Amino acid sequence: MKIVVTGGAGFIGSNFLLQQIATYDDCQLVNFDALTYAGNLDNLSSIESDPRYSFVRGDVTRPADVAGVLTEDVDAVVHFAAESHVDRSLDQADLFLRTNILGTQVLLDRAREVGLSRFVMVSTDEVYGSLGPTGSFREDTPLAPNSPYSASKASADLLCRAYHHTFGLPVMTTRCSNNYGPFQFPEKLIPLMISNALEDRSLPVYGDGKQVRDWLHVVDHCTAIDAVMRAGEPGEIYNIGGNSERENLQVVGAILDALDKPRSLIEYVTDRPGHDRRYAIDASKIHRELNWQPSVGFEQGIADTIAWYLDNREWLAKVRSGAYREYYEQMYGNR
Ligand code: NAD
Ligand code: TYD
Repeated sequence: MKIVVTGGAGFIGSNFLLQQIATYDDCQLVNFDALTYAGNLDNLSSIESDPRYSFVRGDVTRPADVAGVLTEDVDAVVHFAAESHVDRSLDQADLFLRTNILGTQVLLDRAREVGLSRFVMVSTDEVYGSLGPTGSFREDTPLAPNSPYSASKASADLLCRAYHHTFGLPVMTTRCSNNYGPFQFPEKLIPLMISNALEDRSLPVYGDGKQVRDWLHVVDHCTAIDAVMRAGEPGEIYNIGGNSERENLQVVGAILDALDKPRSLIEYVTDRPGHDRRYAIDASKIHRELNWQPSVGFEQGIADTIAWYLDNREWLAKVRSGAYREYYEQMYGNR
């Protein structure tokens, strides 16, 4: 099976590529990534010389780049490439709209041209907006995105719906909750807090810290995407969740305890504008229809993740210092 993975040098994409190589002898994987600040080929050093894997630097918003990789012999596209951080979207909405919406449209048009048979759109639970204290998002919950990031993802998600409805393009869409695990860029809550705690820097908690997220280990997200790619029904949407709702303060407390650091490192800072209060996922459809369920509990997953960051302090230091950026610019030129 020949699979083009967009955004394969990012957090979830690189975990997905590593998992495909570990699971399937007969796969052929093309990692198509622009290598923005979030893309890091070092994540894939263990497979870079595997004959089943190749890397092409390119931008999803450029039709010529996309046409170069999305050819008639491709069996599936898994579309991870995106600008992914809510806080950045508050200052750079234009970049988010361009990459997340336009990039998806360019891919969808090319997919039509080559008659692609499987397209997996990696969307997010954030398209549903924010919940009150009870209830959970179902696939038929109305979309109500609140940030420029989630609005751009909702637009891309709806474009996929439209291309399936109008042109019969075989698109499956996943909407997953918050991921954590190895190779996550230290701007997102869990790796940022681990990284700061390791250096005895303050841990910035937005507002009262009582916002709730559902946490899913990235390996479980990858098995869910694999199930959707291979067995999902075209035109369908699949929620993916970890059944692990935690308040942010609980997560931060667990990290401090595991690293034997004091609570006094917590610094309450001004809340994120428009901050969604609570996300929770009803993932019963993917369980029922594709027999998927998470395998890593949150306590085990966070302990493993902290251990990974402790074992990979060089990776963390290089990512934080921007050293990878300089290297890629030398190798591939400025973007
Ligand atoms: P990430 O920011 O770690 O990685 C994004 C990757 O996309 C990077 O490698 C980057 O170089 C690449 N990219 C960015 N712009 C590009 C462009 N124009 N052309 C080609 N490549 C480009 O993101 P992530 O956390 O791995 O998320 C991957 C996908 O999963 C995103 O679509 C995100 O919306 C979705 N998602 C993420 C989470 C989460 O918790 N991280 C949860 C649900 C859904
Ligand atoms: P984040 O990892 O940015 O994911 P998302 O906003 O997509 O859910 O944030 C997770 C939660 O942690 C969210 O409620 C915002 C909060 N948060 C902080 O309190 N401090 C921080 O420094 C960051 C990055 C996030």
